[in-house]
Amino acid sequence: MSKRIAYYAYGSPDVLRAEDERPGAPGPGQVRLRQEMIGVNPVDWKMVAGYFRQTDRAPFPHVPGWASAGIIEQVGPRVAGLSVGDAVIAGAHGGAYREQLVIDARLVVPRPEAVSIEQAAALPSSAVAGYSLVQNLRITDEDTLLVHGAAGSVGAATVQIALDQGARVIGTASARNHNYLRSLGAIPVLYGDALASALRRLGPITASADAVGGRESVDATRAVLVEGGRAVTAWGDEHSRAADIPWVRHPDDELEQTVAIAARGALTVRIGETFPLESAADALELSHTGHPAGKILLAP
Ligand SMILES: NC(=O)c1ccc[n+]([C@@H]2O[C@H](COP(=O)([O-])OP(=O)(O)OC[C@H]3O[C@@H](n4cnc5c(N)ncnc54)[C@H](OP(=O)(O)O)[C@@H]3O)[C@@H](O)[C@H]2O)c1
Repeated sequence: MSKRIAYYAYGSPDVLRAEDERPGAPGPGQVRLRQEMIGVNPVDWKMVAGYFRQTDRAPFPHVPGWASAGIIEQVGPRVAGLSVGDAVIAGAHGGAYREQLVIDARLVVPRPEAVSIEQAAALPSSAVAGYSLVQNLRITDEDTLLVHGAAGSVGAATVQIALDQGARVIGTASARNHNYLRSLGAIPVLYGDALASALRRLGPITASADAVGGRESVDATRAVLVEGGRAVTAWGDEHSRAADIPWVRHPDDELEQTVAIAARGALTVRIGETFPLESAADALELSHTGHPAGKILLAP
């Protein structure tokens, strides 16, 4: 038997239950992983809370989880290029909070030796969103990019990938994260009432990537972006819609490309707290605060 974290009704993280399951054999086009580390993302508590209940029509129980690193232990029919024993990174569409994961082989990429197990589990969902934000904005060395929520997993990946493209990067964060942003090479700015005036003092801003959402960051973007500037958000809501700021689009190769950037050392995720898989509810409570000190992981 093998452990999974499941929920049978929407609610706060305490609806999560650790339970046993008998892992199935991978079907055509699938592989089965022995999971080594699982990444926690805000989408996990949002799914548990029922944010996506209109589109998420699968019957209960549901298993959260969009990110993990593991070893292939079984390969189903009609899978090319993956073998038993391969170390891989999996960008699941839900279902990753378990010891053994059966997954579509197209959602799995090899883990390069230069990418640790912890970094690997931290890349899908959040760092890949950072990659896609930078791609959607077509950032170049002529840009000054504003990143809202620059100290989070999405924001910090956006910062690093944009710096790697040669851009000047300004990032919003609380004061305790300003040294972290400086260490990445970004210019830190405090969010809050004085945000737009602080940004204006830093010169023309040609692009904005929002990894927070909400009225404050949308208003600041509108106030400071140059004429013809580009903006995109990782969390579309009524404020971004009213301002015509599109929700990030995801290129098919976003996981491969993000892993390649990490493997050449241009992207490192700040790792926060690691919880045992059975304590997934505590991990989601911490994610729900909106202020974790780095990527939260679950150790199966
Ligand atoms: N569309 C997609 O593909 C996609 C993928 C992944 C994530 N997302 C979304 O992107 C958002 C961020 O995810 P994440 O993984 O980066 O979360 P995270 O790691 O939990 O980081 C959240 C960050 O937001 C910052 N923050 C909180 N309130 C803020 C404010 N008012 N202004 C500026 N920064 C603020 C926090 O910094 P301080 O502690 O310094 O305040 C924290 O570092 C979530 O809404 C998530 O659902 C979307």
